[in-house]
Amino acid sequence: MHYPNRSSLNEDQLKAVTTTDGPVLVIAGAGSGKTRVLTERIVYLVGEKKVSPWNILAFTFTNKAALEMKNRLERMIPGISESLWVGTFHATGVRILRNHGEYIGIQKWFSIYDAEDSLNLLKNLLSKNVPQGRLIRSPRVLRDTISRWKNDFLLPEQAFERAADNVERRMVTLYQEYEKELKRAKALDFDDLIVKPVKLFSIHQNIKDLYSERFRYVLVDEFQDTNPIQMAFIEALSSYHGNLFVVGDDDQSIYGWRGARVEHILNFEGLYPGTNVIRLERNYRSTRTILDAANHVIAFNKGRKGKNLWTDDEEGEKVKLVVSMDEETEAMNVLQTVLSLLEKGLERKDIAVLYRTNAQSRALEDVLKRGSVPYQIIGSVSFYDRMEVRDILAYCKLICNPSDLVSLRRIINVPRRALGKATVAKLETLAASGGIPVTELIASGEYDVGAKQKKKSKEFLKTFRVLERLARSTHAAEVIEAIIEQTDYLKYLKENYPDAESRIENAEELVAAAEAFADTHEDATLRAFLEEVALVSDVDALDEEKGLLTLMTLHNAKGLEFECVIIAGLEEGLFPHHSSLDNLDELEEERRLFYVGMTRAKKYLYLSFANMRRRMGFIEGETPSRFLAEIPERCIEGDIEGVEIWPRTEMGDELDGSDELGAPKVKGAAERKRLEFEDYSQEEVVYTVGMLIYHQAYGKGIVRKVEGSGKNLRVTILFDRGSERKFVALHAPMRPL
Ligand SMILES: Nc1ncnc2c1ncn2[C@@H]1O[C@H](COP(=O)(O)OP(=O)(O)OP(=O)(O)O)[C@@H](O)[C@H]1O
Ligand SMILES: [Mg+2]
Repeated sequence: MHYPNRSSLNEDQLKAVTTTDGPVLVIAGAGSGKTRVLTERIVYLVGEKKVSPWNILAFTFTNKAALEMKNRLERMIPGISESLWVGTFHATGVRILRNHGEYIGIQKWFSIYDAEDSLNLLKNLLSKNVPQGRLIRSPRVLRDTISRWKNDFLLPEQAFERAADNVERRMVTLYQEYEKELKRAKALDFDDLIVKPVKLFSIHQNIKDLYSERFRYVLVDEFQDTNPIQMAFIEALSSYHGNLFVVGDDDQSIYGWRGARVEHILNFEGLYPGTNVIRLERNYRSTRTILDAANHVIAFNKGRKGKNLWTDDEEGEKVKLVVSMDEETEAMNVLQTVLSLLEKGLERKDIAVLYRTNAQSRALEDVLKRGSVPYQIIGSVSFYDRMEVRDILAYCKLICNPSDLVSLRRIINVPRRALGKATVAKLETLAASGGIPVTELIASGEYDVGAKQKKKSKEFLKTFRVLERLARSTHAAEVIEAIIEQTDYLKYLKENYPDAESRIENAEELVAAAEAFADTHEDATLRAFLEEVALVSDVDALDEEKGLLTLMTLHNAKGLEFECVIIAGLEEGLFPHHSSLDNLDELEEERRLFYVGMTRAKKYLYLSFANMRRRMGFIEGETPSRFLAEIPERCIEGDIEGVEIWPRTEMGDELDGSDELGAPKVKGAAERKRLEFEDYSQEEVVYTVGMLIYHQAYGKGIVRKVEGSGKNLRVTILFDRGSERKFVALHAPMRPL
């Protein structure tokens, strides 16, 4: 077999795949096959050039992308993914630090702090009334500023030199304190996962050589969004062989606000003389109309190199403009659109609703729930951010790293054990002066707190020791179960939270997640599980298997594609976002974000504008986004002058939407389904949990459970009207919607 499969690549793509030596830059528009080329190149290197997978390192933007790439490669060349390194910058950083962090004083099992942990650490610092904290109004701003410094690779000393005023200078001092606290807690924050390896490489040339000699080929996807520290990381890792292959699109650079530098891609040839530049101009994703519209919009940006993107695809349908009265009507129109697309034969997983800000999801969710369209939201409060999940994970982290102060503070008094803030602060100070973790201090018994507190702290330690021992001998799921049991955590939830039931479900879900982890990972220890959890990002939660409609922000949609994309909230001030309106660079970044959104669509693109929107409690009249006017008329249908211009006549029977505020009732569609039952065979249906069905007698419902198989296949359905019933599928007059 020859790699790559030449017939599936065009000439330019083939060149990008087979130009293996030296620096190569693929700069090309959306949907031109950059990610595909990157994957094929690995296949080519291993399959044709006989490069060992051990010598290849590839960076993807998300863990999910890494996993997909690994799976694809595995299908093409079984066994390849074991020694190949494919992952995000952060995941790669962790791997390196676990191996060699000790060289710069990082213990092997450090805790990883996410943004919330970092915030808690800073809040605690500020609450200690340090004089530097006086001018700092928002711990969040402080955290983000520190993060920016780190991503610009500025140590406190350098940040101090650059500080513009007193407030910034104080922030730098707090940055220093924050670093000390992290060190004391034997923890790294998220940025450190890249900062520290770069530091390691700069201090220990031999370690840098170890990696850069190993990685003969380094590949980077979404290169336009790298920040300076990531760039330094890439540079170090590719320094020995210099076979650096990067792909990206300057028109899709959307993380400038987080410190990414589009200059990295624009000046790549300057940084790496002798670079082979390859342009891909053919788009394989979208229809001609969608591409025409997107090309036109992005051409309004001045700060760009410009490129020519074309497609051989059909002209396709026009972009549809949907105008609504307000956000509720907008949500109903989105539902209508979705239902009509499902009627057309699209599946829910083929459709994505994108928006600029997370807050917009609320109205959409309400209506989708009422319309019984199963959906997933990417990037709202994620599972791992829920209080109960964080509590249990804090126990886990403390078990793996007793020095982890943020975790200790979180749970030492949860469930309540009479160990209040003052007691904990006292314990902390004493422990710090002895240079030992708080748990060790408690074990020594050499501290002076009230008798009751002392007794309680001893009890806490006893539980902790039991769990610690358990973690050494068994896998994560069992440890988590034991935490819940030993601390009587569910009782605590029941007694303190009116919504305990759903919280208990989440706790159980965490056990299930750890069990699933054990099924797919050889190393299922608590430590390994924690590492996986720490690196999870919002987009990783995206699940195509479940057949759900996807809701997410435009930022999260990068790199993805859907048959149909609906972009909601195209209003001045919302998109483009008001924070960007008086700054040309930021406005152009918003336009690039719109371009990213439009180019996610393969066949259908809907753009939605609401005349009024509730913002911060006020109802405001809205002006259509300038981006709408940038789409040539030939590409778009609809009319932004009127309200409700959307062709309701076609869809009129879908929704009985006469009641302006009332729930949309899906009537027509369901009735039509009923007529089709006669010639319908149950044997062809694969029922899956979450699937939407229509039952002749009970109406619409969602599949909750699937048991048995063949003739004995039983399906439990939760019906819209509230009842839950179980059927033998073969005989039930029902079918998927
Ligand atoms: N030569 C080809 N023939 C057929 N389909 C292709 C070809 N190259 C790419 N594709 C398909 O086109 C789509 C877009 O490819 P891909 O996601 O790799 O583009 P991209 O340049 O990475 O896009 P983005 O800029 O959005 O990240 C995918 O569905 C891919 O399978
Ligand atoms: Mg891509």
